[in-house]
Amino acid sequence: MKRPHVIVHMAMTLDGKTATVERRRTDWTSQTDKRRLIENRAMADAVMVGARTAETARTSLSILDERLQRARVRRGLPPHPLRVIVSAHCSFRKNIRAFERQVSPVLVFTSSRAPKAKLAWLARLPDVHVYVVGKKDVNVPRMLDILARDWKVKRLQCEGGANLNGSLFTAHAVDELHVTLCPWVFGGAQAPTLADGKGFPRSEILKAKLLRCEQFGQELFLQYRIL
Ligand SMILES: NC(=O)c1ccc[n+]([C@@H]2O[C@H](COP(=O)([O-])OP(=O)(O)OC[C@H]3O[C@@H](n4cnc5c(N)ncnc54)[C@H](OP(=O)(O)O)[C@@H]3O)[C@@H](O)[C@H]2O)c1
Repeated sequence: MKRPHVIVHMAMTLDGKTATVERRRTDWTSQTDKRRLIENRAMADAVMVGARTAETARTSLSILDERLQRARVRRGLPPHPLRVIVSAHCSFRKNIRAFERQVSPVLVFTSSRAPKAKLAWLARLPDVHVYVVGKKDVNVPRMLDILARDWKVKRLQCEGGANLNGSLFTAHAVDELHVTLCPWVFGGAQAPTLADGKGFPRSEILKAKLLRCEQFGQELFLQYRIL
């Protein structure tokens, strides 16, 4: 199977959390971090989120900055990346921003557990493409194969959340990790981390190599290659 180069891009607190226990979107990173997220998104062919992040993030997953749009076009890319939502149950609200701002195709990867009525509703939306890949969960290698072959995605930026990241790591499908380490402690066993899900037993843990480390004010931007 083919797959794109996959980058997980996240902000994380000193205690390894990526949101507070309420799992609501809160503004806790710097403007520099937000700008870096968008600049990196502008380098990607596709941007991917899980169902909960699609709902909580107040973003259409597109590129608002016209200079970045023009730079993409100069590189032979469309102004906005493809937008990808992963959701076994299609449990996301209908009014998420990615559907409201029609600037590039939205690909929904789901499973046989998705209700027929929601699939029928999605099929009526303009430029929304639904793939049922998997019985219980979305089969990550098949999803990445479809993105690489049918949509020519070479570089995919995953912007969370914890459960989607966890399933990408479990499938050994992450090439790079971009983390902004932020000067907060959120605490809470139920607060999301960078990668939730089952986790790895000691014998199978993943290793990474530090490629870059930059300080911006109180934040550290870390770029790792997953080995
Ligand atoms: N700090 C950061 O950089 C950052 C970035 C993004 C998000 N966040 C925060 O993280 C929280 C959301 O994280 P989360 O872990 O709760 O949610 P999430 O990963 O965004 O979404 C989880 C949902 O995605 C679907 N999903 C993920 N992987 C799947 C797979 N392999 N197959 C099928 N479905 C899959 C499932 O949807 P169904 O239930 O429909 O099956 C699952 O319930 C929010 O609080 C958000 O603010 C933080």
